[in-house]
Amino acid sequence: MSKPERIQGVRGMNDVLPADEALWTRFEEAVASTMRAYGYQRIRTPIVEHTRLFVRGIGEVTDIVEKEMYSFTDALNGEMLTLRPESTAGVVRSVIEHNLLYDGPKRLWYTGPMFRHERPQKGRYRQFHQVGAEALGLAGPDADAEVILLCHRLWSDLGLNGVKLEINTLGQPDERRAHRAALIEYFERHLDVLDEEARRRLHSNPLRILDTKNPQMQPLADAAPRLIEFLGEASLAHFEGLQSLLRSQNIPYRINPRLVRGLDYYNLSVFEWVADGIALCGGGRYDPLVEMLGGRAAPGCGFGIGVERVLERMRAEAVDLGGGGCDVYIVHQGAGVLEPALQAAERLRDAGLDVILHAGGGGFKAQFKRADASGAFVAVVLGEDEAARGEATVKWLREASAAPGEGRQQSVALEALAQTIIDALVADGDDA
Ligand code: HAM
Repeated sequence: MSKPERIQGVRGMNDVLPADEALWTRFEEAVASTMRAYGYQRIRTPIVEHTRLFVRGIGEVTDIVEKEMYSFTDALNGEMLTLRPESTAGVVRSVIEHNLLYDGPKRLWYTGPMFRHERPQKGRYRQFHQVGAEALGLAGPDADAEVILLCHRLWSDLGLNGVKLEINTLGQPDERRAHRAALIEYFERHLDVLDEEARRRLHSNPLRILDTKNPQMQPLADAAPRLIEFLGEASLAHFEGLQSLLRSQNIPYRINPRLVRGLDYYNLSVFEWVADGIALCGGGRYDPLVEMLGGRAAPGCGFGIGVERVLERMRAEAVDLGGGGCDVYIVHQGAGVLEPALQAAERLRDAGLDVILHAGGGGFKAQFKRADASGAFVAVVLGEDEAARGEATVKWLREASAAPGEGRQQSVALEALAQTIIDALVADGDDA
């Protein structure tokens, strides 16, 4: 019989292995506590939605809808379905479907995998994760400032320094229409400089031409008519309102007039958090979306954070992940002490400690290797004689945790084991 094929994961879709768990956990805990701090409630929507939700919500002439969606026909009933490329459309769909705005505004957050058929490279995957927040039913620039402040607090909770804020305004649909007409006229006068993609987009989505990655078209894009020249008083006031709130909270920002975002639902404020040219987070206001998806008009704003990109940044900035491993690794002499060892492990867990009880046999030396690799703070050693005396040896695995004068090893009564370890952990935490 020939050897069975070794099946690989799908390109651009990654496993998250235990080695990265400490990083993910550090991030996820910071997210959960930041969302709580701003009164955002978690919402979980399905990964699969009707294709037309994204076509209508994100926009027909966008990269996502034109070429990046994983869409398929449900073989059982012929429905056109899509793996969500982002979550704002799904969250808004759910808010409308369940009438969540009936009693006032809602602050929602979510996290989970998203799917885009992009060319995989570092920081760009086909399955990636987002954390997002959506503030629905709030029209003022204070809501825009709130979601930006929330991100800012998250970066600082994570100890990230190099993440910079860029903002822009897209105005209202009628202001954009006037600007759009001016843009088409301008680009038509310079058809010879436009590449194929730009020509294709000239009449369908000329705004996206400003977002060109083609260096030959850069000077043309730079000199194009600016939207700000077409904005009315209310839109200008909204943008100025956001900026003055950001200034009042000492949040540095840069206005990037070229920031247009890749989804069509936005109006007024848009923003991105960028580190070394990579967008870690993108968001903005999307007042037209609720109505576009069939709900009673209601304003909204929010953001989506690319989790893998933030984790990469955490690695680059060597963010402290804390211990990451368990608290205690119990090393023991085997069958003869298994029962007292199990008993000790359960008591330690009762006291709230995370414990690995060695399994699989092996001598003390091999077991200590495992204890070291586990990241445990302390090894508890249980030999037959000690167990008979109701004692164990505690070996501090991290230098800082050795209590002064007590060396790296001490004998402790089993009854006092949990308290001794907890006291040392607390003292260690105080030092940190
Ligand atoms: P987005 O800019 O398309 O916005 O995505 C948000 C973030 O997701 C990006 O800044 C990036 O960090 C990450 N991201 C996007 N595509 C990939 C990929 N292929 N691989 C890895 N990371 C990626 C949205 O999705 C909007 N729903 C954000 C929003 C929420 N606006 C208002 N509310």
